[in-house]
Amino acid sequence: MKVLVTGGLGFIGSHTVVKLIENGDEVVIVDNLYNSKLEVKDRIKEITGVECPTYVIDVQNKEELTKVFKEHRVDAVIHFAGYKAVGESCVKPLEYYDNNLNSTLVLLEVMRDYKVHNFVFSSSATVYGEPQRVPMYESDPVVEATSPYGETKVMIERILKDYAKVDKEFNCALLRYFNPIGAHKSGLLGEDPNGIPNNLLPYIAKVATGELKEVNVFGNDYDTVDGTGVRDYIHVVDLAKGHVLALNKLKTNPGLVIYNLGTGKGTSVLEMIKAYEEASGVKIPYVIKERRPGDIASSFANCDKARDELGFTCDFTVLDACRDGYHFQVEESERKKKAK
Ligand code: WQD
Repeated sequence: MKVLVTGGLGFIGSHTVVKLIENGDEVVIVDNLYNSKLEVKDRIKEITGVECPTYVIDVQNKEELTKVFKEHRVDAVIHFAGYKAVGESCVKPLEYYDNNLNSTLVLLEVMRDYKVHNFVFSSSATVYGEPQRVPMYESDPVVEATSPYGETKVMIERILKDYAKVDKEFNCALLRYFNPIGAHKSGLLGEDPNGIPNNLLPYIAKVATGELKEVNVFGNDYDTVDGTGVRDYIHVVDLAKGHVLALNKLKTNPGLVIYNLGTGKGTSVLEMIKAYEEASGVKIPYVIKERRPGDIASSFANCDKARDELGFTCDFTVLDACRDGYHFQVEESERKKKAK
């Protein structure tokens, strides 16, 4: 298949591009570099030997996006591009709704113009809001999310459900990610956010390399195994594999389908710190702090549907992800030192 990947130079996007190429697919990348670097294209080539046609444009720019569809007869689109910081979305709601919703609408319109019928959307466990039960099932209600970022995922799912009702040729997979972590085993691809990381694993990684002093554990009075927050941490390479399997599913013309992509297991903050220490051989100091507003106690997936319908299972453990993530962090720190 020829697959257009928006946000293809980002953390999850770049790992998915590698998996698609390894699967024998052709890939076209669209990315505006808002949360990624153009050099990731070269790293994808270093891993796969393939240089993907890459367009540094904003998906909202219909004229520019149309040129890409004119130049490439694509069979499917995987849509990662979008703002994704929960905290930031709470202080910049208009920017989040404008960017995430309009980019998706423009993309769907151009796809319709060029009769591209297969669409994989990067959704999120955040659509379950404060979950009524854990593990979460795809049949559980989609409720008001706990942030404007999450609401954009809820709204885009609604747009896609309504569109799939009227366009019978439209095949769409809503993939609800839990907590993606880890990195490619080469040490060339991984998550390295600018500034102070919001998410737990990039923060732990910077404590491990000495860039940050200690981990702030946001609350230890939750109703969980050790009082700290529990999440379903999935290796990003397993997550990427899930996208390839979802594309295969769309070849059967299923219409709109929904899948949780997680491990089905929960890991607490303290358990994660311990795993990272084992994987890296580095002591990770931490301090208990107040709960973070908007956090929930537990979130982890029931992944039976992805297993049964996509053949999706995880190859990697949390420990593997910590090991790969630390390897990437060390390699990236070395690259940054050499670049200075
Ligand atoms: C995980 C746990 C925190 C940082 C985020 C996005 C969500 C989705 C997945 C895209 C929680 C605790 C964190 C820290 C801590 N992404 N924590 N100290 O909030 O589960 O979800 O990633 O769809 O949209 O919000 O991930 O890594 O921020 O937090 O104690 O410095 O770690 O309280 O229990 P989260 P996270």
